[in-house]
Amino acid sequence: MIHTRALTRDFGTKSGTVQAVRGLDLDVGAGELVALLGPNGAGKSTTLRMLTTLLPPTSGGATVAGRDVVADPAGVRRRIGFVGQGHGAGFDQLARDELVTQGRCYGLGRAEARRRAEALLTELELDGAADRESVRLSGGQRRRLDIAMGLIHRPDLLFLDEPSTGLDPHSRANLWSHVLRMRAEHGTTVVLTTHYLDEADAVAERVVVIDHGRVIADGTPDELKGKVSGDLVSLTTATADAARAAAEAAGRLPGTTAVETDGTEVRLRVPRGDAVLPELLRALDAAGAPLTGVRVQRPTLDDVFLTLTGRSLREGAE
Ligand SMILES: Nc1ncnc2c1ncn2[C@@H]1O[C@H](COP(=O)(O)OP(=O)(O)OP(=O)(O)O)[C@@H](O)[C@H]1O
Ligand SMILES: [Mg+2]
Repeated sequence: MIHTRALTRDFGTKSGTVQAVRGLDLDVGAGELVALLGPNGAGKSTTLRMLTTLLPPTSGGATVAGRDVVADPAGVRRRIGFVGQGHGAGFDQLARDELVTQGRCYGLGRAEARRRAEALLTELELDGAADRESVRLSGGQRRRLDIAMGLIHRPDLLFLDEPSTGLDPHSRANLWSHVLRMRAEHGTTVVLTTHYLDEADAVAERVVVIDHGRVIADGTPDELKGKVSGDLVSLTTATADAARAAAEAAGRLPGTTAVETDGTEVRLRVPRGDAVLPELLRALDAAGAPLTGVRVQRPTLDDVFLTLTGRSLREGAE
């Protein structure tokens, strides 16, 4: 569905050249659901804007849905849907009319466009807002209208740039269940960006981490998390003496790294928490260090980014 080769985009600014995307190589197969993750300014939107033909590459190239983005932009546009980071809806039409017009632009007949518009308005819970101009909608309602506009022609390939930003938790959950259902029914390929790491973790089968315009990691959420950090095991003991004994016993287990003691609490990194837990508990029992609590935490995608770059994605995002 997508092949990019050394895709590059520079911007000339007063203070010099900004290299927004630097030689990006990315292949996405039909039916994949891929999340692009990266801090503010990493080059995610610029990449999507090149893939959706809104911005020409400075060098390198890409084919999207079998068409070259530079040689055949109209061919690409016919086959894709795009929900940009900014608002896509106009201002003076009623939300419902805007949606129908969008469908008609993509060649749907009037009745079919109306039918699909009504279905989307219901599924994205916009019924109550359908008879208002889009400028009068709330931020979250307008965002949902943008999303409906990207979906009305049922593209084979859908690009969503931060679709859930500004949506309340209920609307976010509703958005993802809609996207996942559409994918199950029509085999839609989806490429999205989000700053909600838990969302990327839950929804995406593949995560591509971008930093300074380059791909720095690419894999399933589990692969990425497995590769870099290991699980964090936190042990709580009744006394500081028991904590010291626990830390010593834990440090002797094979594969354990980074044992830290903090009062009655001990934290350690192990490759897989569930795999070492029985042995760890036996060792602590033998060492006379009874526990009052145990917690195993899988690494998050933020831990992955931190390990790769030394920076936290959260700092950039929040
Ligand atoms: N039209 C432009 N002119 C100059 N610089 C630009 C332009 N568009 C983007 N940039 C710069 O290119 C870099 C990448 O921007 P981009 O919008 O692709 O980031 P992003 O990963 O989408 O970030 P965010 O998470 O904030 O949306 C940034 O440094 C940005 O300032
Ligand atoms: Mg962006």
